[in-house]
Amino acid sequence: MKKTSPSSPTTSFAELADWQRLLSAPLPDVDVRKLLQQKNFFRAPKHNDQIARQHSILLDKILGFDLKGLEEKLVKQGRIKLPDGSFEYWGPAIHDGAQTWVGLDVQTLNTPYGVLLRICELLELKNETVIDLGAAHGRLGVVMGAQYPLAHFIGYEYVPERVHEANRIYERWSCSNAKCEVQDLFAKDFVLPEVDVYFIYDYGRHDHINATLGQISLEAAKRPIRLVARGQATNKLIADHHPWALEDYIGAGEEHFNIYQASPETQVAPLEELS
Ligand SMILES: C[S@@+](CC[C@H](N)C(=O)[O-])C[C@H]1O[C@@H](n2cnc3c(N)ncnc32)[C@H](O)[C@@H]1O
Repeated sequence: MKKTSPSSPTTSFAELADWQRLLSAPLPDVDVRKLLQQKNFFRAPKHNDQIARQHSILLDKILGFDLKGLEEKLVKQGRIKLPDGSFEYWGPAIHDGAQTWVGLDVQTLNTPYGVLLRICELLELKNETVIDLGAAHGRLGVVMGAQYPLAHFIGYEYVPERVHEANRIYERWSCSNAKCEVQDLFAKDFVLPEVDVYFIYDYGRHDHINATLGQISLEAAKRPIRLVARGQATNKLIADHHPWALEDYIGAGEEHFNIYQASPETQVAPLEELS
């Protein structure tokens, strides 16, 4: 039986070796759960993309995500349809045209934990509801589950295997305020729920993201909302087609994302079609 040892792990979380130690000398879940409550567990030790990725790889392992196995199965399905394809084509080939990024490196597919923590800190989350539109493996739900238990997380994701994995991990770590659901954001009958914060990280095709931004603009016409936009495509679509979001934003100058605030007072432009 695994025991809590006074010598391991260090709880300072100052260098990657501190997380590595947790893998070489695993602790019982009850002790890991306590470590998840420390902010520094989710903070990358340096402002550096490589370190942020390494940190996230270690966290995925500590949390017990089986991302490699899961994504390899999806790639296998993709290869059956398109033997000479690549990550740009396999997703649409097996998911009815949706760009689900099958075959993309999982550390590119998902936002690093350190960036997600920074987003939550800037949002100063209390009891708000956050929706991740295209949640992949639902990492934000783990950060919010561990650090913001009074807030609520909903992740919408097209790929059922990713949704199941996210919910398995939430259950393991008692993230009772987080859930992921299978949802096609571009489905005709999809209605965007009324929540406080919408998060988009380049989830799919540009016309799909643009349509979602149009739906968010309609929500902003009804009540104050915040929109976290990560990725070049989403931020360019906002700059080109959704000036309503640009009026007022926090998180300016952040390297990896913008946080926009909009409300009925903000001028809301009509949804524009992409040519
Ligand atoms: C770049 S990942 C972002 C992951 C997560 N938001 C994060 O930042 O860690 C985008 C996700 O959106 C999903 N996606 C693409 N098209 C979608 C659609 N039409 N409906 C729902 N999810 C979709 C993809 O399968 C992928 O997992």
